[in-house]
Amino acid sequence: MQRSEIINWLRETDPGRLEDLWRLADRTRRENVGDEVHLRGLVELSNHCVRLCGYCGLRAANAGLQRYRMSDDEILLCAHQAIEFGYGTVVLQSGEDPQLTRGRMTGLIRRIKAETPLAVTLSLGERDDDELAEWRRAGADRYLLRFETSNRALYDRIHPPKADVPSAAKRRKSDRLAILGTLRELDYEVGSGVMIGIPGQTFDDLADDIELFGRIELDMIGVGPYLCHPDTPLADRRAWPDAPAGRQVPADEIMTYKVIALTRLVCPRTNIPATTALATLNTDYGRELGLVRGANVAMPNLTPPKYRILYEIYPDKACLAETGLKCHRCLSARIKALGRRPGAGRGDSPNYHQRLTIGTENVVRDRPE
Ligand code: 5AD
Ligand code: FES
Repeated sequence: MQRSEIINWLRETDPGRLEDLWRLADRTRRENVGDEVHLRGLVELSNHCVRLCGYCGLRAANAGLQRYRMSDDEILLCAHQAIEFGYGTVVLQSGEDPQLTRGRMTGLIRRIKAETPLAVTLSLGERDDDELAEWRRAGADRYLLRFETSNRALYDRIHPPKADVPSAAKRRKSDRLAILGTLRELDYEVGSGVMIGIPGQTFDDLADDIELFGRIELDMIGVGPYLCHPDTPLADRRAWPDAPAGRQVPADEIMTYKVIALTRLVCPRTNIPATTALATLNTDYGRELGLVRGANVAMPNLTPPKYRILYEIYPDKACLAETGLKCHRCLSARIKALGRRPGAGRGDSPNYHQRLTIGTENVVRDRPE
């Protein structure tokens, strides 16, 4: 797809034309990844974080948040619940929490892999290469790390260096594209994505993001609207102004559907979730509309309610007051109502399987500098 086409779609306002985009994305989804909706059970294992991301409620400097860390036994209970509900994957997500040490995570991953047939996805922030390598050897299958925006200056503005880290090596600039390259070399299925409508993000930036998705051949791409958390720096609109009039990307529902649809067209075989952030903007139909406009994955939350309310990356998150069982029933019913079916098995990325068949040389050549 030409860049000018991407820009035109991002700026399109005509409802009839947008219906064409939704239809094209839905057809492309069906032809490439089928009608199954793969379910990934999400476990938010810790809300401790050493980072200072300007948009995120878990940031280290947010003193008002009560912090928690789940025990291995509590996490295993969630994994067994995932099996009971027929999910193929458990996603272990947390803030960037050094207490989730290399050894602790290795033990946990081994236990889940020994006790269950689940695919294990990690989403633990920017971790060292040797940790990522050891967790892969322990059996972790996938890793999610959003690059958030491909505009380097904007990225640096919203990701200040870590709080008081003694070693210079640890203070190095965050380079998520390099980490995504490492994950690929370690043979993980690699997921990434961006936020839509970050203050200062322009249509050109977002078109760059979508083009980059195509170049780095991701296995999963999660996109969601930026949602303002009042206890974060980005909530101060004087310090974090929008891009000049006419250039700022709105952080709204339609823009999110557009990015999901365009991502499907640019990366036809990738797994694309209908995200919780989207369901937060439209609690009634956000997930469903995502699923009929390009998405093929949903991530029902398995985090026990007493912890779930504390995993507040943004306010009023969808499903905040629900239990794992309630989310399971609700989501299954919604998927069936769309005439789709919950995925059987692990729901691995077709991109990943194709890569294994072709061999990795082709992929390494395609990776950006
Ligand atoms: N609004 C929307 N998405 C957010 N994330 C973090 N904070 C926010 C927010 N305020 C997203 C980031 C991160 C993912 C786990 O959640 O993209 O990578
Ligand atoms: Fe949680 Fe619907 S998915 S209540």
